[in-house]
Amino acid sequence: MRVIIESDAQGVGWRAARFVASLVRRKPGCVLGLATGGTPLGTYNELIRMHQQESLDFSQVTTFNLDEYVGLDPAHPQSYRYFMQENFFRHINVDPGKAHVPDGRAKDLGAYCQEYEQMIEHAGGIDLQILGIGRDGHIAFNEPGSSLGSRTRLKSLTGETITDNARFFEDESQVPRLAITMGVGTILESRQCLLLATGTSKARAIRSTIEGSITAQVTASALQLHRDVTAVIDEEAAAWLTRREYYAEVEEAQSLLENGEFSRLGIGNQ
Ligand code: PGA
Repeated sequence: MRVIIESDAQGVGWRAARFVASLVRRKPGCVLGLATGGTPLGTYNELIRMHQQESLDFSQVTTFNLDEYVGLDPAHPQSYRYFMQENFFRHINVDPGKAHVPDGRAKDLGAYCQEYEQMIEHAGGIDLQILGIGRDGHIAFNEPGSSLGSRTRLKSLTGETITDNARFFEDESQVPRLAITMGVGTILESRQCLLLATGTSKARAIRSTIEGSITAQVTASALQLHRDVTAVIDEEAAAWLTRREYYAEVEEAQSLLENGEFSRLGIGNQ
C-alpha cells in the first residue's frame, strides 16, 4: 500500500483531488467509485473548483456510490443520494443518468443489491474507488465481522456507527439501522483504491489497516490484499503508524523517479 501523509485535512483533499483528476483526464469515460461522509468533502470541493476553473470534464464519467441508508427517500436531507447531489453532482457536469447511488427504497432489496453489482459490471468495473474509514475500521458499511469476500447487500449498522452518524440527524433514534453497501469483495475488484482519513479519531483504525493483520474485525485491512491502494491521510490520522520514515522515503523515491532524477537514486552512476 502506498502511504502519503499530508500535514492536514486540506492537504488530503488537494492531493486526493489531483489523483482523481489525473484519471479523469487520462480516461474521460472512467468509472469512479464515490464515498459519502465528512472526509471526502475536501476532495469534492477541490474537484468542483477544478471543474469550474480548469475545465475538468465529468461529462463522460460514470459514478457508483458505496452505500445508502435503507428506507430514506432520495430527497431526504440525510440520504446519501441527497448528500452527493448537494455536495458534488450538482456542481459538476456529470450525466445524472450515470451517477449511481444505491436505492434505499427499492421494493425487493435483495434483488436490487444484485442488480447494483450487475450495473457496475456492465459499466466495465470501477477504475478508482474513493474510500473513507470508520473509527472501527469499516469501509463503506462493512462493519466489523463482515465477510472479506462480501458483495453488495443489506447490512445492520453497529452502535458505534449509528452514534457517529447521529450528528447528521436530529437525534440518534432517527438514524436508520440498515444500509445497502457494496461488499468488501466488490471494493477489492476496483482497479485502484484511494483510502482517505483525517483526524485523531481515525489513527487507531489507520494503524490497524496499514500495519495490522488482515482481519474481518477491521474490514479496511482487506485492502492489504489489493495490488493498487493509495492511502492519503493527514498527520493526525497517521499518528499511530510506526513506519512513517519509510513511507516518506518511498514517496521521495517516487517523486525523483517521476521527475527523471535517476542519478539521485543511484541509477546509472556506474
Ligand atoms: P467520515 O465517515 O468521513 O464522516 O468520518 C467515514 C466512514 O464512516 O466511512
